Amino acid sequence: MPHHPHTDPAIAPAPPGFTEDSWAAFARDGILVVEDALEPATAAALSDAVAAQAENNRGHIVGDDARFTALIDHPAHVGHVYDVYGEMLKLLRSEYVRRAPGGAVRNAWHFDGPRLLPFSAFARSAPLRIKVGYWLTPLPRPAMGNLVYVPGSHHWDHLPQYHTHEPHPQERRLIVRPGAMTLMWGGLWHRVDTNDSDVTRHNVFLEYGPSWLVTSDRLLADPQWAETLPREQRIIMRAYREQNQCVKPPSRDVPLFLPRPGEPVEAKQPYADHVPSALRKRPTWLERRIWA
Ligand SMILES: [Fe+2]
Repeated sequence: MPHHPHTDPAIAPAPPGFTEDSWAAFARDGILVVEDALEPATAAALSDAVAAQAENNRGHIVGDDARFTALIDHPAHVGHVYDVYGEMLKLLRSEYVRRAPGGAVRNAWHFDGPRLLPFSAFARSAPLRIKVGYWLTPLPRPAMGNLVYVPGSHHWDHLPQYHTHEPHPQERRLIVRPGAMTLMWGGLWHRVDTNDSDVTRHNVFLEYGPSWLVTSDRLLADPQWAETLPREQRIIMRAYREQNQCVKPPSRDVPLFLPRPGEPVEAKQPYADHVPSALRKRPTWLERRIWA
């Protein structure tokens, strides 16, 4: 029985993602800040989930608590990362962080990802990783364990202040309400502010990229657990026992989403009829935007 993915009622259109304006801001600044991305009750529930954990920081949290699991394909962000990584979208890392008042451990200037041969050596027009952050406690002022970053630094190979907490003349601090979302371009220089308040900062990070990039919080998500997830979450975890499926996804996992209303399907593609649907290139929103 041939599978007809475009008529399968279990497959939904992708949630909304970037607009022309939000992509332009993200590409310029290396960071996009979206206030009130989460409902207050969702942010509060996630903050409670972070508070309930034993350690101050841990990775691969999406299997630990249903409130974290729901973030794998949360509609506030999944459309954005789908716009960039399309049909090979993978969750590369999930993590929560608690930053207690007076905490001695805070990250000095760095950018995420490989340092010896950074992603920027290959990709400038699009990030190879995007880190989604949800900020779950109030950050109304500096010195609350805020994210400190240099807008537009995502293409800089070097920062004189690297590995220190020396201030940078263009640095900015993230000042947001609980429920805010940030998208960070892999490569943006950032560090963590002191926390001189009496509030423990809670946040979660979810890092995405194309499935052929290695995960950084696990070797492999538990395939049996992944099978219990809703279809989109299962696919995005890419719990493939056969590594090559991260390069060539199995046909049951294509497409991840249906095109949004008004988006082109495959009409203009130069494939002969015999080429299976799962083997056809599926241009991302970003590719179509670049080609347009
Ligand atoms: Fe970092």
